[in-house]
Parts: sequence; C-alpha cells; structure tokens
Amino acid sequence: MDAVKAGISQTAATAAPVIVTGGAGFIGSNFVLEWLAAGKGPVINLDKLTYAGNPENLASVANDPNYTFVHGDICDGELVAKIFADHKPRAILHFAAESHVDRSILGPEAFLKTNIDGTFALLKAARAYYDTLAGEEKERFRFLHVSTDEVYGTLEPEDPAFHENTPYAPNSPYAASKAASDHLVRAWVHTYGLPAMITNCSNNYGPHHFPEKLIPLMISNAQKGKPLPVYGDGQQVRDWLYVVDHCKAIMTVLEKGKPGETYNVGGGNQRTNLDVVNTLCALLDELVPDSPYKPHAQLITYVADRPGHDRRYAIDARKLEGELGWRAQESFETGLRKTVEWYLANKEWVEHVTSGAYQQWMDKNYGSREAVAEGTR
Ligand code: NAD
Ligand code: DAU
Repeated sequence: MDAVKAGISQTAATAAPVIVTGGAGFIGSNFVLEWLAAGKGPVINLDKLTYAGNPENLASVANDPNYTFVHGDICDGELVAKIFADHKPRAILHFAAESHVDRSILGPEAFLKTNIDGTFALLKAARAYYDTLAGEEKERFRFLHVSTDEVYGTLEPEDPAFHENTPYAPNSPYAASKAASDHLVRAWVHTYGLPAMITNCSNNYGPHHFPEKLIPLMISNAQKGKPLPVYGDGQQVRDWLYVVDHCKAIMTVLEKGKPGETYNVGGGNQRTNLDVVNTLCALLDELVPDSPYKPHAQLITYVADRPGHDRRYAIDARKLEGELGWRAQESFETGLRKTVEWYLANKEWVEHVTSGAYQQWMDKNYGSREAVAEGTR
C-alpha cells in the first residue's frame, strides 16, 4: 500500500523517526497519540511495561504504520544502541521513569535504577549514535529529557514560582533521582556537546493517569464510595497542567528549543489538594446525579501525611511562553471536567489497571495511614 492510499502524508512517511521512552505510560501515551494525530512522522516506543505502562493506552494506533513498539528496558545498553542503529532517529524524547513519590519513599531502589542508570544508558547510546552523524542529520539531532518541577524542592506561600535558575533542592527519593538524571543530561551537553534539552514540568492530569496519583485515585475511589485519603491538612499546593498541553510544550521545545537549554512548563493553576478534591466531588455530584454516595465530599478522610511532603510547587513558564511561543490551552476547570468525563466513560480501563498488584500497593501505602480525626492533625 503506498503512503497516500494509507492516508499518511508524504512528509510523515519519509521523515526520520523519533524514539519515545516510556510511551505506554500516562504522559508518554498522550504524547504518542498527539504526535501521530499531528502527522509528525514515525515513532518508536521503547517501554518496559512496568505496572504503570499499559499497551491499552495505545490500542488505537497499534496498527498504525508510523508506530513501532519495542518491549524493553532503558537500562539495557545493548538494546538501546541497537534501536538507535536500526532506526536512525532524528530525536529521542525520554519519558520513561519511576514516577510516584509515595512508591519512592517505600522502595527507592527502582527509582535509582531506572531514573539514573536508565538515563545514563540512553545518554551513552545517544552520544555514540550522534558521533556517527554528519551534516544535516547531525545538525537536527536532539535528546529531550522530560523532567519535573520537584527537582527544585518546596516553596513557602509567598515565594516566587520556580524558574529555570532556581537552585536544585530535591526532597524525595523520586525527586533526587530525577535531579540526578537532569545533572547527567547537563553534563553530557557540556562535556560531550550532546544537543540535549530538559523540560521541568508541574503536575499533569488527564486521561490515562494511573489511579495511584491524587486526581485519578480520588475519581476512582469516589465512584466506589471508598474513602478519599487526603494527606495531612490537605493545604499543600500543586500547579496543575492538562497533559495534552504538556505534550504540546514538549513538541514545541523539540522544534524550537535551543540545545543545552532548560524550559519550565506549567499552566499557572495553583490549587490546594483539598480544593482539587472538593472540585472533583462537586463534578461527580453533577455528572453522576444518581450516585448513592452523594455528596461525594462526605468521603473525604484525612490520613497521615507523606513523609517529607513538599508544601508547594509553582512554575514560572515565561521563558517557554516568551521565547518559544507556547501557551497552555486548557483551563483547570475545562481540563478537570474533561478528565472526570474520560474516567466515567472508561471504567473498564480503570478496572484493568486496578487489579492484582494494584491492591497490594493500596494496602502497603494506605494500610499504615490510619484516618486522622480533624483537629488532631
Ligand atoms: P508513568 O509512571 O505513568 O509512566 C512511566 C512509563 O515508563 C511506563 O510506561 C513504564 O512502563 C515506563 N518505564 C518505567 N521504567 C522503565 C524502564 N526501565 N525502561 C523502559 N520503560 C520504563 O509516568 P508519567 O507520569 O507518564 O511521567 C512520564 C515522565 O514525565 C517521567 O519522567 C516523569 O518524571 C515526568 N513528569 C511527570 C509529571 C506528572 O505529573 N505525571 C510531571 C512532570 C514530569
Ligand atoms: O510536580 C510534578 C510531579 O507531580 C511529577 O514529577 C510526579 O511524577 C507526579 O507523580 C506528581 O507528584 P506529586 O507527588 O505532586 O503527585 P501525587 O498525585 O502523588 O500527589 C499530589 C498531591 O496530593 C501531593 O501533595 C500528595 C497529595 N495526595 C496524594 C495521594 C496519592 C494525597 O493527599 N492523597 C493521596 O492519596
């Protein structure tokens, strides 16, 4: 079948591919779907399929000739080198990570392995491949490292938002492992001239978000009439960004960003956790009017706080907006409504990811966090 008959633009069919790591996870899968829908060319998805990786997220593109899945570990240097040699990519977009702070507190090893050793393996292979390139291919090659605002630590209520020069002060094992990976990327730019860029983004939400994280966990529990476990006093602040806006920011940085630069990504939506949970409960009251658990806010339960819990994150995205012209399209209100609607329409997706090992995780993380009565917190 020729490219035109298959509905693929000539540009897309002939463009060099990009490698995405962790494309079966929350942000990676949204990115792959956006990338293919935008006709940006072939994508190779390298994913280990940990508990957080779900091929169902990409079922709609499984047969797309522009999509290739490779089941493997980013720490496997030989495999990574072979993927570079076989596919001759124009870029690598590195999403793969262990990403849940609570899991990093209860078991940091996997975080050090994937987030640090894995990033090192990718940098090593990317550098060897980059050294084989010449001319235009060398000129356009990019390594884009997807990172987090948690590397900057925590803010006081009156502190200005994190900017690209805020000193690193990671507080959790997850944040420390991401900070270490950022430092490796920086060193590969400065020492070896690898054309890499880093994006540091705030909290994402949207479809395919694994229900161990605040927003999908609350939606999932509320539908079943289960307690909504709010850590500590619920006054911690996060700066929320709809996942598709993050994916578009990454595409913008890939296309227009300068090698060696860091770009902060955020939507300017600071909310306390309690606000977020109450808003979700109100949305569920409205969208599931016959729910036996209405008002859903009655399910809110205060539980023991996360050790070392960062109090506030906020992102200053003016560099990305001013220099590269990116703007978040979704407001928190419209994005959250879309997200709740997606979870209500995709109950099977939630059922599939919340069986077996998920239950063991819930017992491990929440079993020892007994409900804490208001006033004794
Ligand atoms: P996720 O946990 O949903 O998905 C991670 C993906 O990586 C999964 O598909 C998993 O199978 C894969 N993976 C894990 N270990 C691997 C390994 N060793 N080899 C290959 N694949 C492996 O994570 P996410 O929330 O989609 O986050 C993606 C990236 O974005 C991470 O680097 C994270 O630090 C960063 N980030 C996340 C957020 C957020 O709010 N979720 C915000 C800012 C930055
Ligand atoms: O800031 C970016 C980061 O955002 C990403 O780098 C991480 O990968 C991502 O997981 C996220 O980290 P957080 O720790 O902020 O997200 P989480 O959804 O786990 O928690 C959000 C807030 O909600 C946090 O203050 C802890 C609180 N919380 C979380 C859970 C799971 C609760 O109160 N109860 C809960 O059950």
